[in-house]
Amino acid sequence: MARTLIAGNWKMNGLKESLGEIRTVASELGNGREGVEVLLCVPATLLALAAEAAEGSALKVGGETCHTAASGAHTGDISAEMLADAGASHVIVGHSERRMDHAETNETVAAQAEAALRAGLTPIICIGESLEQRKAGETLGFVASQIEGSIPAGADAEQIVIAYEPIWAIGTGEVASVEQIDEVHRAIRARLGERFGPEKADLIPLLYGGSMKPDNAGEILAVDDVNGGLIGGASLKAADFLAIYAQA
Ligand code: G3P
Repeated sequence: MARTLIAGNWKMNGLKESLGEIRTVASELGNGREGVEVLLCVPATLLALAAEAAEGSALKVGGETCHTAASGAHTGDISAEMLADAGASHVIVGHSERRMDHAETNETVAAQAEAALRAGLTPIICIGESLEQRKAGETLGFVASQIEGSIPAGADAEQIVIAYEPIWAIGTGEVASVEQIDEVHRAIRARLGERFGPEKADLIPLLYGGSMKPDNAGEILAVDDVNGGLIGGASLKAADFLAIYAQA
């Protein structure tokens, strides 16, 4: 059985004044709960400060992307090693917003995930279909192709996390139904079973992301193949994020 991971993705939000939210989550979390990991992924500018704010608690901090190289002439980019040095334990790779804004392909995402593993980070590999693909009945095939192409060849099942984030549910308030989530997560688990074997595939946390809020988190987290959430807007305020964590 996969561990539970409740993860926040602050995206391009958060200034030093926002660190109070992290301190509140860290303080309320204390030593946390057995089998439930809690993580906040923040902009690289805040990461070291966030790690300091979380120190001594069960709260982990992560990055939101990473370059494939460890260092070098890549102006403005951040390496996985830099994220680890700042205190990150995880890094999101292949978020749909980056696949769109930065033309990140499955190959790019797999290379970023490999860089994360190289630096000792856990990659949270994001996949998910567009509204057009869902309406065309292409969801399961498309998500399967993303799994095939976005997980690095050398990765072990224990080293990765997958986040299913239907693009049409991100930031829209249009959360996927539990039936839709159940269908896609089962299909993802099956594909992972083909890649890693069923037993190892069961160890991979499958997160749902896309308008998860305190008022819908309980039913989403109760779906069999959902092992947590990747939460955007509702992770920016400690009270909302903790209200979701309480339902895990
Ligand atoms: O990575 C999580 C994010 O894409 C979901 O955003 O605001 O719909 O929870 P939101």
